[in-house]
Amino acid sequence: MSKKTLNLGMVGYGFMGRAHSNAFRKVGNFFPAEHQVVLKAACARDAGKAQAFADTWGYESIETDWRKLVERPDIDVIDICSPNDTHRDIAIAAAAAGKMVLCEKPLGRNPAESEEMVAAIEKAGVANMVWYNYRRVPAVTLAKQLVDEGRFGKIFHYRAKFLQDWTISADLPQGGAGLWRLDVNVAGSGVTGDLLAHCIDTAMWLNGPMVEVSAVTETFIKERSHSLTGKVEKVGIDDASLFLARFANGSLATFEATRYARGHKALYTLELNGEKASVAWDLHDLHRLQYFDHSDQGIVRGWRSIHVTDGDQPYMKNWWVPGLQIGYEHSFVHQVADFIAGLESGVPAAPTFRDGLATDYVCDAVLKSAASRQWETVKQAS
Ligand SMILES: NC(=O)c1ccc[n+]([C@@H]2O[C@H](COP(=O)([O-])OP(=O)(O)OC[C@H]3O[C@@H](n4cnc5c(N)ncnc54)[C@H](O)[C@@H]3O)[C@@H](O)[C@H]2O)c1
Repeated sequence: MSKKTLNLGMVGYGFMGRAHSNAFRKVGNFFPAEHQVVLKAACARDAGKAQAFADTWGYESIETDWRKLVERPDIDVIDICSPNDTHRDIAIAAAAAGKMVLCEKPLGRNPAESEEMVAAIEKAGVANMVWYNYRRVPAVTLAKQLVDEGRFGKIFHYRAKFLQDWTISADLPQGGAGLWRLDVNVAGSGVTGDLLAHCIDTAMWLNGPMVEVSAVTETFIKERSHSLTGKVEKVGIDDASLFLARFANGSLATFEATRYARGHKALYTLELNGEKASVAWDLHDLHRLQYFDHSDQGIVRGWRSIHVTDGDQPYMKNWWVPGLQIGYEHSFVHQVADFIAGLESGVPAAPTFRDGLATDYVCDAVLKSAASRQWETVKQAS
């Protein structure tokens, strides 16, 4: 039977452009479906770099202006893997052109941009998704399955951290290729939108909506030279962001993200504690889920380290034989597989743009609370 094609237009060839291209190339081999992804066009502003990327990853053509890409009749889905200041305009134009839209996180630089994006997508009625890929690490997906099975009873606590150390040097410039995350005009915020957004998305997926937050942020290095202007300019991003939260289910939470935790490169950890059980996960050991079940017989009760590689555990039957683990890149393959499955079943894969907006509202409340030094109520997205 011939497959339906899903013609992809990719914007950006950086970290995420590569991670997503790899996923789109592999998905059909490991998660066969009615749709076959075709890498139709890669878009970046520099034609030479765009062509080199297209040649490496097998894209049929290139564009140097995303406006042309979204207008092309041979493109079905636009994937936005460019910096945060480009997300709104590309998503809105793509939706208006009737394309399905996949967007990297955070949706916009602020909730106003994200709201416009949600309105455009919902008005156009096109399939959409935000790349909160950590939901699709099998151990994290297994944690969600355990929560949904009611194994934890009443949930009391949630805690998450995302720690890095790559901006400690005061000599590091802000802005431009590779360093746009330090330029508030491009990124929208610092670690709140970059790192905490991931923690918040997973947290609300596992533990439901958040209702209020109390935060503290710090910008440790106040001025940096700007790569594009060559001038020393004020730093507008948060270097570290910590907050307390209360969930709608009554549980309490702590969150921390920083790029100043010397020795930590990308340490995302989460833990959930319930009346009957607890669960913990660590990105540096991402194929394991730590699980404690209080109903175990006393003499053998303790934390289990579950090696998530069996065929009856999430996504694993599509990979190797039990005992052989997978890694970071596979979370993106799973997200594409679920997106395609959503197209075919009619039940859209999450997180949708509206789910992404919910996370952006929490980020906004965090930044507002840090500024006001007060608890802030979280606006709800639906
Ligand atoms: N899901 C995740 O875990 C994750 C991880 C990293 C980044 N991200 C997100 O992905 C996005 C991209 O981040 P990255 O790390 O890949 O950045 P990057 O700097 O590695 O790559 C950005 C790419 O966008 C291109 N670009 C910039 N402006 C453009 C324009 N106007 N038109 C076309 N291309 C343009 C650049 O040339 C580059 O190829 C950001 O929104 C970021 O927050 C998500």
